[in-house]
Amino acid sequence: MILGFALLFVLTDVTAEFGTTPNLKQIVIGRCFEYVALANLNPRYNCEKIWQEFEKAVVRRSPCDVGVKDYQKMFQVITQTLPCGKLLFWSKTRDFMHSYVAVTGSFWTLENTLLGFMFNDLIWCGQQERERGFDYQSCPKWSTCLNHPVYSLWKQASQNFAMAACGNITVLLNGSIHYAFNKESMFGSVELENLNPRMVTHVHIKVIYNLEGPFLESCTQGSILGLIEVFKKRGFYWTCTDNDLTLLILQCLKNPRWATCQRCFNGLF
Ligand SMILES: *[C@@H]1O[C@H](CO)[C@@H](O)[C@H](O)[C@H]1NC(C)=O
Ligand SMILES: *[C@@H]1O[C@H](CO)[C@@H](O)[C@H](O)[C@H]1NC(C)=O
Repeated sequence: MILGFALLFVLTDVTAEFGTTPNLKQIVIGRCFEYVALANLNPRYNCEKIWQEFEKAVVRRSPCDVGVKDYQKMFQVITQTLPCGKLLFWSKTRDFMHSYVAVTGSFWTLENTLLGFMFNDLIWCGQQERERGFDYQSCPKWSTCLNHPVYSLWKQASQNFAMAACGNITVLLNGSIHYAFNKESMFGSVELENLNPRMVTHVHIKVIYNLEGPFLESCTQGSILGLIEVFKKRGFYWTCTDNDLTLLILQCLKNPRWATCQRCFNGLF
């Protein structure tokens, strides 16, 4: 959830065959200090305390039994005010999203929040015997658990992120796959329903494609129509673009040799 988290995270079985990330504690606390220092937040976040609440939520329970509610205390000590009008949601566009956010400098994803930054790409689970701490050997797959500790954390994080959204927001979807809008994704299953039409003034849906294609879905074709239907029904103002020149240029800067890009650059200069 930066692990997908907002994303639009897609629920893949990231934990299959892996145990808890080695040195989890050092990584999580280190990232927390790094974020607090670099983001210039006043030090009202207590990184040790956040870790303690996290650990309590996870290790006292069996690996498939950590629900959203178990993280409640941790979420209380990690509450963060977001620049709500800059939020970017994404699904299956992770790599592109990173360069887009970096280049424009004007979007926030779940990964830009303290919580998202701290837990991005990490895996964790406890053990059946309660006092044995984290299981570094193996963690269950998301799909085999009712309440997977990793999933539950990202679910709550995504929900909070979506609930905070205000003003204009952006949704970045991948038109090179079927089900660009996937109801099972973190965006489709958690974030979408937590967006508030009274707080969000405008939703900008942007569809991007692999330069080499395929071009499977668009604003007028495929699952994205279903997403637009939901926005309409719930009273959001929205626009959808599937030929955004800025996005194409950004992709071409990384892959200038593609024919699409040659045409694009020729048109520009
Ligand atoms: C679209 O999804 C595919 C499959 O997950 C991925 O390989 C590709 O990089 C994605 N395209 C973009 C533009 O994000
Ligand atoms: C929000 O989006 C609408 C519609 O595209 C646009 O007219 C408006 O200028 C945007 N507002 C901000 C603050 O970006």
